[in-house]
Order: sequence, then structure tokens, then C-alpha cells
Amino acid sequence: FHPLPNPLPSRERGYFCLNSKIKTQISTLRKQIQAHDEAYYVQNKPTISDAEYDRLFLELKELEAEHPEFITPDSPTQNVGGRVAKGFEKIKHTTPLLSLDSLFQKEDLEAFDKRIRKELDGHAEYAVEFKFDGVSVSLFYENGILSHAATRGDGYVGENITANVKTIKNAPQKLKGKNHPKQMQLRGEILFNLDDFQKFNAELLNKGEDTFANPRNAASGSLRQLDSSITASRPLKLFCYDIQFHSGELNIKTQKEAIELLKSYGFETGGFHPICKTIDDVYSLKEEYETKRDDLEYEIDGLVVKLNNLDDQKTLGIKARSPRYACAIKFEARKENTVLENVAFQVGRTGAITPVAQLRPVDIGGVTVSRATLHNMDYVQSLDVRVGDTVKVARAGDVIPAVIEVDLKKRPKNAKEIQPPKSCPICSGDVQKEKAYWYCTNTLGCPAQIKWGIVHFAAKRALNIFGLGEETVDLLLKEKLVQNVGDLFSLTKDQLLNLEGFKDKKAQNLLDSILSAKDKPIDKQLFALGIRDVGEQTAKILMEHFLNLSKLLNANLEDLQTVDGIGPETAASIQSFFSQKQNQKLIQVLQSHGFFQKEFKSSVVSQKLKGNTYVLTGELKNFSRSEMKKKLEALGAKVTGSVSKKTTAVIVGENPGSKFEKAKELGLQILSEEDASNLIN
Ligand code: IVH
Repeated sequence: FHPLPNPLPSRERGYFCLNSKIKTQISTLRKQIQAHDEAYYVQNKPTISDAEYDRLFLELKELEAEHPEFITPDSPTQNVGGRVAKGFEKIKHTTPLLSLDSLFQKEDLEAFDKRIRKELDGHAEYAVEFKFDGVSVSLFYENGILSHAATRGDGYVGENITANVKTIKNAPQKLKGKNHPKQMQLRGEILFNLDDFQKFNAELLNKGEDTFANPRNAASGSLRQLDSSITASRPLKLFCYDIQFHSGELNIKTQKEAIELLKSYGFETGGFHPICKTIDDVYSLKEEYETKRDDLEYEIDGLVVKLNNLDDQKTLGIKARSPRYACAIKFEARKENTVLENVAFQVGRTGAITPVAQLRPVDIGGVTVSRATLHNMDYVQSLDVRVGDTVKVARAGDVIPAVIEVDLKKRPKNAKEIQPPKSCPICSGDVQKEKAYWYCTNTLGCPAQIKWGIVHFAAKRALNIFGLGEETVDLLLKEKLVQNVGDLFSLTKDQLLNLEGFKDKKAQNLLDSILSAKDKPIDKQLFALGIRDVGEQTAKILMEHFLNLSKLLNANLEDLQTVDGIGPETAASIQSFFSQKQNQKLIQVLQSHGFFQKEFKSSVVSQKLKGNTYVLTGELKNFSRSEMKKKLEALGAKVTGSVSKKTTAVIVGENPGSKFEKAKELGLQILSEEDASNLIN
């Protein structure tokens, strides 16, 4: 990412005479900022405006940059504090943060090795590492000093979490040794040790707060705190595993040497760095660590395999979003047996009722699991699972634990069959089965549907209303301040100040964030309504077609079905949503608060490929499939997921799937990646 210029000390400017004057000036500024921080964070009563505060902070930062000898660890510029009022600043990564292909089978690993040896005339040596199961970060050092840290984000743009990373005890802010390039971008993983995680969750439970599902979520939640003093109070750890970029001064030839150098800088790297001459050796290590991982202090979910020689890495290069010279070989999900003690039913935003297994608590790889999904009643029936059964529960990384097997031999005589719900477990409304799910039909009155509907409206992928998570929604509902999303816009500051935990700043931020939802793109506003079957993509397709809300509202079932990508079920869901009086009223309320005013802003820049439909299959070298899709769409083309006679051409990358076969069968035009590049250029 682009670091800010770091002014060097300028001895030319009468440094020696001004010495003591500047020291006093720095100290006064620090005291002023600390007093403002205290007023802001502790008393929740800011004494100056954000702009004024920023000016003081910048002044101090500049003075310290010119006189680094006066920087002290307790300076507000160094650690905690640092005001980030509205979300995190975005940072564009200079070198994109790639991800790794995940492999599961030995054959996949063998194919990876074969491809590499083919390009390298048979020679290859692999550096094997732990695949840390935490949060990926990018760290930027300038002359050995940590200047920026960012989350991976979408690989191209991440969030600036420098202040938070600076609070992590084993994250060096100043590198040891002397061999420091002018600029260097590193990559690592931030995580919770399992012990720390257990302790931390127990404390949360004690305080009556929500706990985290796993160490990775706890790490991610801790890093995404706007107040870095909260991050500072969490026991986070950093492991560093890659030098992504340096300004040319380092003389390292292998990944092994890179790791040695990182260690010498003071980073923890995990202590597991074998070199393997054959892929069989790599696979044996994976099998060995599938059990040995239980002895580690932290979670790993596989091993990472990297070509050791850095020149060889360059030869292999990268494809769309992942390198060809590295991959991850993932462990199988952890599984444990336990007893199904009961089944509860949960109701979601769309009214879908999901059976949730209540389990005798079981430790699965350091995480206590007492609930797991049973997906839906069809799944329950196909497993023939009963209350009292001994069941196998799988937990893998971020995925919600799931019941995957029943041990019929251990079934007790009194095991109880699980019946579908006769009425909604939340509002007692009528239920109705559609495909695999039972639904509560009380769409407008069911408290669960209302709650999750508001949480969805405010979610990051919808309107991203900052500060309106599950907890706050619960509070607003409990105090009867809202009954639907329309009510959010009538909330007053006084009402919020009466809620537990709300002080001036928090209340104002929430109101500002609600207000800014009207400026979000129209497809996001449509998605936020939570219409059944209308996900992010469908909302976009609809707005791309109809451009504004009134055209969409005037569309009949037939009109809706003619839109490419909208099937009869989705069309019916849309019609049904808009035909309900309550929803019509809601839309009016939202419109009166500035929603749905702008037309959809199309990303189509020309109509050169209008009327053409393409299908992509296989891996492309220079683009990700979604990038290629975007480029084709920008020229007016359609890109669909399945091959039919209507397809204009199929674009075929490496290792194409069955779509390629089908295209040949139908005698369709086949385009290589190069042909497609020429087309879009
Ligand atoms: S190397 C260009 N090494 O696994 C290669 N990644 O998609 C960059 N991860 O989110 C990644 N341990 O954050 C590498 N020893 C390790 C790793 C590792 C964990 C994460 C990484 C990324 C994911 C792979």
C-alpha cells in the first residue's frame, strides 16, 4: 500500500538552538492531546472538534518526525488512542495481497507438484509452513520502523489498522538488527492463543456479554475496534511469514532465508519451517500435523507449501488472485462425538425455521461446542437423528459447527424423534413448508423476522449502518423505539441517550450513520429490504434492468421474468413483497427519508458487445473470472453461468470444467484467454 511520506529529521533548520524549545512544545502538545483523549474516551464529553483535534495531532506527529529523539513510548502518536471516528480509512495495497489455492487431496498436491516441475525442468524444493488460522495482515516498514498496517480487505484495498497493530506486544514497531530496507511490505497473521481465547470468552460470559464462536472471530473482532485501547486489552499475537516486497536491498534467495531474516528482525514465525525435496514428504507432514496440531498453542488449519527458491517463484508467477508457486493443503475438519440433548428452532429474517442441535458441551480442537446446525428438517430426516443420540459434530475454521453423523449403535431406547415445528417458536404464527424449510408465515409481526430484518438492513453488505448490530437492535426493540426499519429514521438523540451504554458521541454516530444510508447505491437499498430470493447480485440485476424503483414497482410478473437471471420463484417473491400494504408503506417512509432517489449507476461504458452472451470456464492467467466478467459486462455483454445454444462463445482457461465439453458438443465458438483479452481491449 502507499505509505505516507515520512519526513526525515532536518538538521539544517537550526536544530541545535531550537532543541529545548521544541522539546517543550512537544510536551505541551502531548499534554493537550492526552487531556482531550481523556475527555473523549473516558468522560465521553469531547472538548474540541474533530478537526481541531486532528490539527493538534498532526502538529505533534510532524514535530516528532523531525525530532525522533524526542519520541517517547507514551506519546499519543505511538500507541493507543489515536482517534478514528468513522470506520477505518481505506488503504490501497501496492502489491495485491493474494490468496492461496486450497487443496484437500493428495492427488491435488501431486498435480500442483507436477505442474511446477514441468516448468522448472524437474527441480523443485518446498518450504513448508503452518497455515495460521487467524486474520491476515499486511505490515509496512520504512527504514525498520512500522509505518502502516492493513487488513487484507478484498486483496486490493484493505483497512488501515495501524493504531491497533501497534498495541500488539509481539509486533515489532522497530525492527532489530541493521539490515533494514528503505521500504518493506510483510505479511502475517494475527490470532488468539487457544488458552487466551478460552479465558477471554469466560470473562465475556461473566460480564453477560456475547462470546466469540472461535479464536479467529475473536482476533478479527479485536482488530476491528475503532478505539485501540480495546485492542490493547486483548491478548493478540502476530506471526509473520512472508516478505511481500522490499525496495531491493535484501540479498535473500529462498523463503527459508526470508524466514530467518524475519526472525532476526524480532518476529515470531511459528518455529516450523521444514524444507521438503518431494511432494510425498509434504503430504506426510500434513498427515503428521493433522494430529499434532492439537498440541499447538494456537489454531492452524493446514500447511502452506511454497517453492523455496525465490527466482523459481518468479518463474512460476501468479494467476488471477493466487500464486502458482504456492498452495495450502488443508486439514480435514475436526470431528468429535457428543450427545444431542435437545433441538431448538431458530427463526431467521425470511421466516425460515432452522433446527439447532443443543449438545452436551464438547471440546473440538480447543473450542467448546454446545450448539451445531442441523440445517433443516429434511436434513434431520435424512440423518434420522433423534434427541438422545450420540452424534458426530464437525468444526472447520469459520464454518458453523454441524452435526454430520449419527451413531445408531449407541441409540438409547428412549431416544426421541424430532418433530417439525407446529407453529413459529417465536411468535406462535402459522408455519408452512416450502422445499427443505419450514417458514413462519407471520412475516410482518414475528419479532424474530423483525429483528433479523433490521440487522440485515444495517449489515455491512447492505447499508453498512455503523453501530447498528444485533445488540443495539435488541435494545431498540426492547424499548419499543422501533418496529420496522422505517422507524430508524424517526429516532432522536434523546431516545438513544436513554439506552444502556449510549453517550453523546455514540448516539450521534449512530444517527449520522442511519442518515447516510439514503446516499448508498440504489441496488444496496433494494437488497437491504430483505426481499426473499433477492440477494446482492439479484438486486443489482434488477436495478440494472429497471434503473429506478418506480419502474421496478410497475413491473408485472411477466416483466420481471423477462429479466435475464430472474426466475419465476424470484419474480413471485418480488411481486408478493411489493403487493403487501405494509411494505408499500415502508417504501413510502424510506422515500420520504431520501431513499431510492438516484437511478442505478451502470458500470457499462459501451455497447460494443451488446447482445452477446459469454460463459467463462477454467482458470485465467491474467484476470480473475470476476474481473473478466466485469470487463465484458462493461462493454454491454452478458456473462452467464451455464452453456446453452444462446451462448455466443465460451472463454476457456486452464483446467476447464464440463462447460468446455458442453460448448464443444453444441459447436459453440471457443475463445482462449488471449482471444478474450483482445476482445475486451
Ligand atoms: S502466504 C502469496 N503463508 O492463508 C502468498 N499465507 O489464502 C501469500 N496464511 O489469507 C500467503 N498462514 O493470510 C501464507 N504461512 C502462511 C500462511 C498464510 C496463513 C493465510 C493467508 C491467507 C490464507 C491463504
